Amino acid sequence: MIPLVDLKAQHAQIADEVQRGFSGVLENTSFILGKDVAAFEQAYSQFTGIAHTIGVANGTDALELALRAVGVGRGDEVILPANTFIATALAAERAGAKVVLVDCDPVHQLIDVAQVEKKITAKTKALMPVHLFGQCAPMEALMALAKAKGLEVVEDAAQSQGAKRNGTPAGGFGRIAGTSFYPGKNLGAYGDAGAVLTNDAALAKKVKALRNYGSEVKYHHPETGFNSRLDTLQAVVLSAKLKRLAGWNEQRRAAAARYEQLLSKVPGVGRPGTLEGNEHVWHLYVIRVPNRDEVLKKLNAAGVGAGIHYPVPVHLQGAFAHLGHKAGDFPVAEKAANEILSLPMFGEITAAQQEQVVDALKKALS
Ligand SMILES: Cc1ncc(COP(=O)(O)O)c(C=O)c1O
Repeated sequence: MIPLVDLKAQHAQIADEVQRGFSGVLENTSFILGKDVAAFEQAYSQFTGIAHTIGVANGTDALELALRAVGVGRGDEVILPANTFIATALAAERAGAKVVLVDCDPVHQLIDVAQVEKKITAKTKALMPVHLFGQCAPMEALMALAKAKGLEVVEDAAQSQGAKRNGTPAGGFGRIAGTSFYPGKNLGAYGDAGAVLTNDAALAKKVKALRNYGSEVKYHHPETGFNSRLDTLQAVVLSAKLKRLAGWNEQRRAAAARYEQLLSKVPGVGRPGTLEGNEHVWHLYVIRVPNRDEVLKKLNAAGVGAGIHYPVPVHLQGAFAHLGHKAGDFPVAEKAANEILSLPMFGEITAAQQEQVVDALKKALS
């Protein structure tokens, strides 16, 4: 069996360090926030180059808190792509805003900036690009548009830890961003975890209060907040993994290059492209194939843990039926949803495993 992502192989490399870190937390019993969370936040800021990292309970909360921090609320509209994990849209809706969807480009499946421009109204407050599968959205065009229209940009950097675009880190374009440390992410915790990223000290202060019951001084709550803090034990895991993240991302790039070479000889397979200027971190390696559901079944039966990210675009989810969309509204995203297939991708994947994946794929296609 070749899993989609091999978390056991990763854990083996950090097991001792995690054990020592957990023991330290148990000894000093500082289970909420404390020095381990602060140390991770500082280290993550050093890694990204984004001045402030505020650890929160998960990526969905990170995005909601980021939106609230820039003032998104009831009556506002937030524009985001139809082809994303549901959490991007949930965060906007939970912040009180109306979700406004746009389609993606057919090659990289990144947000289509031309469509964003058409959807801007007097109520639009923020744009939410998603750095999907490990590469940045076309941020120059999007930032220029946001600037011209006076809009906030809240980046969904959940799938792009370590990614850059023309030297700028994912999450460092807009005033604020959210990321997820869900276990399968490039930097994954051993449970739910996430963070808000910002270069703006005032916004950082605001998010720190929001994640902690709206409080800066214990038992004083000038505003409504949340209980959404990064768990201290998760911070221990994340700090241990963070030291190795650059190396793991490098290994992912090598694995992507190997897939590219192996798949170039397989007719009928659409290989993923990298938008010029992007330093991709290959959170997911997403190909396109005909008869995808059949192919997926055959791959799974052959022991290849392939998956689909994501089979149903946001506008066709029951949770967003109230937006009033129908099939055909976002044809590029819908076509992609029917053809995409994520192949096993993780730093430790071996050349032999990748050859096995591609052999199984050839058989499944024939
Ligand atoms: C693009 C995207 N946005 C948001 C999230 C939400 O993160 P979480 O699962 O930590 O809430 C995820 C990951 O699950 C994601 O992939």
